[in-house]
Amino acid sequence: MFEMFENYNQEDSSASSVSTSAVKPVVVVSVGGSMIAREKVDAALIAKFANSINNLRREGFEFVLVAGGGKVARDYIATARTLGVENNFVLDEIAITVTRLNALMLIQAFEGAFPEVLTDVKKIHEILDAKKIPIFGGLIPGFTTDTVAASIAEYIGGIFVNLSDQEGVFNADPRYSKNAHLIPKMSHEKLMRILARTDSRNPGENTILDSFACMILNRSKITTFVLKMQDLENFENAIKGSEFHGTIVESTPEGTEPEEQD
Ligand code: UTP
Repeated sequence: MFEMFENYNQEDSSASSVSTSAVKPVVVVSVGGSMIAREKVDAALIAKFANSINNLRREGFEFVLVAGGGKVARDYIATARTLGVENNFVLDEIAITVTRLNALMLIQAFEGAFPEVLTDVKKIHEILDAKKIPIFGGLIPGFTTDTVAASIAEYIGGIFVNLSDQEGVFNADPRYSKNAHLIPKMSHEKLMRILARTDSRNPGENTILDSFACMILNRSKITTFVLKMQDLENFENAIKGSEFHGTIVESTPEGTEPEEQD
């Protein structure tokens, strides 16, 4: 007799989880490969990151994580080239395998992680409904993990966060230009213009965000944060809507540009 009410309650609780995620959009984090491993796996940073995600999940935020390949992927690509591999598809496949290994490592650090590295974006809703964290690596040769994360944010109507070595988006590449400065707030159109100057899609080459990822962020006007991965308190502040150091890319619903500061 009570089954009917049990089912009713289950439906009711999943409906309320949908409405909660409507209030707080799911946060899709592109985790720079260098946050996970440089010369060796950075257990301390991964543990701090897991702690931040736990804090935010307790406040009702939901996450999807996408692990990058970073230096380790670049080393594998360089080694494969030394061994005579010239095929870009094969080089990308090697790097994708590294991103999936990094994803598997992240899974070990997160209590609420779904236990397998995911390759099917359509499974995300089911996993979030089960209160687990879906974790991906790379998906398709020619992509980057930023593109994977941007596509996921587009599919689930989430926001996109890039955590990398860089503090945010600069007007020029800070590695080469003395006059480069960080832009705290900009439109998607401006992001496209800045990144068009520096983009490359060769295996292992990295820019802060590649043009394909930007195209997705721009066409669906996905709110985007670019933040330094080592400062996890700053990451938590950004997600909670408090003051933070880094870049936010957003467009107002009316299509007017936010005030740009550069
Ligand atoms: P990353 O996305 O990690 O590139 O993918 P990255 O720019 O080095 O980013 P960080 O340093 O982790 O922040 C590493 C490489 O894996 C391949 C590409 O060769 C990419 O350069 N890759 C990744 C794909 O081919 N497809 C994917 O879906 C993801």
